[in-house]
Amino acid sequence: MDKLHLEAWTEECLFLLYLQNTPEMTKYLGGPETEAQIISRHNRYLNMGDTGTFYRIIFETETIGSVGYWEHLWKGQMIYEIGWAILPDFQGKGLATPAVAKAIEKAKLENKHSYIHAFPSISNPASNAICRKLHFTLVEQCQFEYPIGHFMQTNDWKLQI
Ligand SMILES: CC(C)(COP(=O)(O)OP(=O)(O)OC[C@H]1O[C@@H](n2cnc3c(N)ncnc32)[C@H](O)[C@@H]1OP(=O)(O)O)[C@@H](O)C(=O)NCCC(=O)NCCS
Repeated sequence: MDKLHLEAWTEECLFLLYLQNTPEMTKYLGGPETEAQIISRHNRYLNMGDTGTFYRIIFETETIGSVGYWEHLWKGQMIYEIGWAILPDFQGKGLATPAVAKAIEKAKLENKHSYIHAFPSISNPASNAICRKLHFTLVEQCQFEYPIGHFMQTNDWKLQI
């Protein structure tokens, strides 16, 4: 999809975290965060070094969401974990899947880790559909902590990159 591209996270992207911090957008992610948590998340995305990368998703000229991957020690193996969000006005238009595919391509080019995993809530149909469409393999259901202190029942999806 030519009209869609990813741009590295910058200072300017803080507004996106506020737009994503609604009950609707965080329904499967433990609920809205405090201002301090948002700022800390933004700083984390800005300063990932070589442990991962966060992007804003741009469709035509509009910022429509975010996608990123980061290192996670999972069952004794260092993997990339990937997460995504599309703002409500742009949901349901088939934009999430190609955006996530573009982020996976970038992770793959790094040639750093063999697997990328996603851990969507078992109740999040759109995110589970994205994993299925991008040919992730469903490993199992698991209890997953995201964000810190919040446990949910998720699917463990993995893709060799
Ligand atoms: C998850 C999210 C990014 C999906 O965005 P979206 O723009 O609706 O996604 P898409 O339009 O690309 O749809 C992806 C697939 O999910 C499917 N889907 C969407 N809603 C669905 C539902 N309620 N039931 C079943 N499938 C659904 C779509 O049909 C599509 O598959 P298709 O192309 O085969 O039709 C968006 O809902 C979001 O940002 N949610 C809040 C943040 C979040 O939960 N992130 C996930 C963290 S793992």
